[in-house]
Amino acid sequence: MHHIPVRKMEFEIPTADNFDPKWAAGNIHLSYLTIAISLYVAYLEPFLVKALRRVLDRVEDPELKECVDRFCRQEAQHYQQHERFNEAILGMDYPGLEDRFTRLKDDFDRFLETKSERWCVGFVEGFEAYINQGALRSLKSGVFEHPQTDRRFGDLFKWHMTEEIEHRFVAYDIYQHLFGNYLYRVKMCFVAQWHIWKFIMDCVRIMSPVDTARYDSSYRFSPFMRAFSTVMIQPVFFRTYMPWYSPYRMKVPDIIQDYSKSLSESAKSVS
Ligand SMILES: [Fe+2]
Ligand SMILES: [Fe+2]
Repeated sequence: MHHIPVRKMEFEIPTADNFDPKWAAGNIHLSYLTIAISLYVAYLEPFLVKALRRVLDRVEDPELKECVDRFCRQEAQHYQQHERFNEAILGMDYPGLEDRFTRLKDDFDRFLETKSERWCVGFVEGFEAYINQGALRSLKSGVFEHPQTDRRFGDLFKWHMTEEIEHRFVAYDIYQHLFGNYLYRVKMCFVAQWHIWKFIMDCVRIMSPVDTARYDSSYRFSPFMRAFSTVMIQPVFFRTYMPWYSPYRMKVPDIIQDYSKSLSESAKSVS
């Protein structure tokens, strides 16, 4: 049985007037990427929960059923915490950001209304296959504990990314259990991963010019940098399309288990 603890956490929340968007190790690329992810998951994660809960009755394996339930409960905690942090970001007056955020919500509402169960579960798996790799890479890099990192956002992401690793196999397993079509999974990885990437790049395009004027040129994220990061993310996407891709092949270092343990110790409650 894979243990997926559901933790309730307490974080110190930044406000718009005491948050520097270059929060992650003083690195503007990582900072905008994670800010956009924070906004994205506020609407993605309720979608993940609804998409999986509506197929839960069809899952015959009791162990998988339990894991899916715990996956949903972890994701529900994630978006509720991100919503609180997102208030600081949205309060910083980026013209056009609120509209883009609303369009994101419309997308997920439309997906739930018009798309098939297979499409929605495939989308969940496409997102999870992408975020698992980002989670592992970011936790291993130590960015969330870097001296130039805003510890409030650092603590939020360290918790969230650790739990993504803890439940990394669930979306893959439920997709394989209910549908299992390899080519359709590849298609949905492509759809989901470009959906988040487009949103991230739109956020960068909106935020960077405002911050460059508000602070200084170190907040500049040029069209060349956007194109370069889009090229650099391709190997991450392509890895998830391979027939041999499996979250079970991921090598998780011992330090992640240490993070899991210390998060459980510092949580308000764990079930
Ligand atoms: Fe999550
Ligand atoms: Fe997840």
